[in-house]
Amino acid sequence: MRCAALAMVALLAFGWTPGLGDALGADDLIYGYECSKGLCRKVELSEENFASAISLPVCRLFCGSDIGTLWPKPTGVVQLEPLMRQVDVANIEFQMPGTKDKLWKSTEQRWLDLLEAKVPNRKILKKGGYQLNIIVNTADAGAPMRLQLNTDESYALSIGSNSAGQVTANITANSFFGARHGLETLSQLIVYDDIRREVQVVANASIADAPFYKWRGLLLDTSRNYYSVKAIKRTLDGMAMVKLNTFHWHITDSHSFPLEISKRPELSKLGAYSPSKVYTHSDVEDIVEYGRVRGIRVMPEYDSPAHVGEGWQHKNMTACFNAKPWNDYCVEPPCGQLDPTVDDMYNVLEDIFSDMFKLYNPDVFHMGGDEVSVACWNSSASIRNWMLERGWNLKEEDFMRLWGHYQMEALSRVDRVANGSHTPIILWTSTLTDERYIDQYLDPARYIIQIWTKGNDRVIKKILKRGYRIIASNYDALYFDCGGGGWVNDGNNWCSPYIGWQKVYQNDLAQIAGDYKHHVLGAEAAVWSEQIDEYTLDNRFWPRASALAERLWSNPTEGWRQAESRLLLHRERLVENGIGAEALQPQWCLQNENECPVDAYAQCSERLWLSLSLVAIVLLCACNKQHLKVCE
Ligand SMILES: *[C@@H]1O[C@H](CO)[C@@H](O)[C@H](O)[C@H]1NC(C)=O
Ligand SMILES: *[C@@H]1O[C@H](CO)[C@@H](O)[C@H](O)[C@H]1NC(C)=O
Ligand SMILES: *[C@@H]1O[C@H](CO)[C@@H](O)[C@H](O)[C@H]1NC(C)=O
Ligand SMILES: *[C@@H]1O[C@H](CO)[C@@H](O)[C@H](O)[C@H]1NC(C)=O
Ligand SMILES: *[C@@H]1O[C@H](CO)[C@@H](O)[C@H](O)[C@H]1NC(C)=O
Repeated sequence: MRCAALAMVALLAFGWTPGLGDALGADDLIYGYECSKGLCRKVELSEENFASAISLPVCRLFCGSDIGTLWPKPTGVVQLEPLMRQVDVANIEFQMPGTKDKLWKSTEQRWLDLLEAKVPNRKILKKGGYQLNIIVNTADAGAPMRLQLNTDESYALSIGSNSAGQVTANITANSFFGARHGLETLSQLIVYDDIRREVQVVANASIADAPFYKWRGLLLDTSRNYYSVKAIKRTLDGMAMVKLNTFHWHITDSHSFPLEISKRPELSKLGAYSPSKVYTHSDVEDIVEYGRVRGIRVMPEYDSPAHVGEGWQHKNMTACFNAKPWNDYCVEPPCGQLDPTVDDMYNVLEDIFSDMFKLYNPDVFHMGGDEVSVACWNSSASIRNWMLERGWNLKEEDFMRLWGHYQMEALSRVDRVANGSHTPIILWTSTLTDERYIDQYLDPARYIIQIWTKGNDRVIKKILKRGYRIIASNYDALYFDCGGGGWVNDGNNWCSPYIGWQKVYQNDLAQIAGDYKHHVLGAEAAVWSEQIDEYTLDNRFWPRASALAERLWSNPTEGWRQAESRLLLHRERLVENGIGAEALQPQWCLQNENECPVDAYAQCSERLWLSLSLVAIVLLCACNKQHLKVCE
């Protein structure tokens, strides 16, 4: 019924005069689409169907879907009426809360860039169309525009048109961040129709939307391999398109120290791969602001006390730096850990934290805490002596006490540079977050724990039970570097195989957290960069990070199968915006909706057969055993 209406409205809305004569591009365009039984069907264009045939993106907006091609899908009411209007791309009017404000100016520019990316060829774009007015209202105009854990990211969007030939999109939100999400949604309701060679907007729509989880992030490791500012910005562009809001910047590690620290220039001089592979203060400020415009908090991690090495040479403040054989002291080369017994080391830390707080102004700070090796600290005579002098032993629990001492001292330096404001701290799961130690050393009011164990690890509920909030990065679904050849040996890398987007989509945090799901802030997917750099980055993140985005924004109850055709279309959107997203399927599957996946019923009966055969095998085995006994 909807589809019939659609064809009608398309006719009315375009005032189309049938006939191929003046049809722009009819000479080279062979196919269009028709909505049939809730699926977009590819049809050859002819004199007869030319007026009713529609382009793929327009067809997909209304055919068989209540939410069009929006990604991530909204959590509130969505009403899209099948009415398209041509947009006069030279006639877009913005009414923003702070027209002169740099933030709003940049937001406007980004929106226009998204629009521009939709037009494949300006030269053949049909002139004319409706003026598009974009009105944005926020409740917090004038407030400091920094994303925080309690920021309200909801928005409402309505689109209407009047007889005077204008389309008005009205976005209301409680914050800048909600409003900019609304602008992304609006952008997804604007498409290029290659049959009519014009940009069109859904001219009657109403959407209410808000995220399910507040922490929706990607982690990028810029230490194992360096990424240019441009590559990072491209990542932020992709994030903004799917309303991911946290760029977790794992900036340093034992391999390299690519961040300029004003009071300690030697850290990046000695620690960077080359003088050009350093993030200067202006680089960082540029990236932080680029993120803010896109609704993204750029959060730094200073991973310590382990995962420290390059840059710290000549200081005599580390243990086991580049010790050999490395696998006796750490999990990958080069080894290195800070020496918690050297008092002056905390002054260096304070200088690092100080620059990080000035540059990033983080509302949440990540202190790492990943993979501390007891064997590393225990290999240092001076550390052992320091512990023995205090009457400690050299057992695991004593090294945890040493780590607790480090964490307390380092935290006091964080608080000092933050002028006493108690910034929430994130730490990775580790031995210190084990139930034997966590209560002793980490205050649940202060620490958020980032989970990187498997999603079904029992440690997760033990942490939650104690009142800690968590961010999930369970490696079995969210480590995007998994899959590929080994690099410290042959075979496959440690967390192979490659994780498909389906698994990312199905990684339900409520299931992971059970009764404590209200303590889950959200999740992050990670690109650890041992085997990835800026030339292979995009296809690691995209489109799988979009699958994560929908998991976190929408918390869908349907499975990946229902989302698949929409994701294929969204992948095209990413590519259109210069992001080298991986191809998921032959383009044929995009053009022939629903014809590629193995039929659901077939799959079901296959499973049934599988379980039946399993039962049969079990029975057979049981019989065999008896038979053997009989034989004995
Ligand atoms: C939009 O669609 C709704 C629901 O069909 C209708 O009531 C309303 O009049 C339409 N508005 C415009 C401006 O076309
Ligand atoms: C925009 O939407 C808000 C909230 O629904 C409403 O109060 C306001 O009047 C609308 N503005 C315009 C110009 O339609
Ligand atoms: C390094 O520090 C240890 C104690 O922390 C000290 O015993 C040793 O002499 C120092 N080495 C140098 C070269 O300063
Ligand atoms: C640390 O090294 C000492 C020997 O120097 C050894 O006795 C002790 O068991 C080691 N501790 C741990 C936790 O491995
Ligand atoms: C802390 O206070 C100092 C001095 O007033 C100021 O320069 C610095 O920016 C403040 N730091 C933060 C993180 O607010």
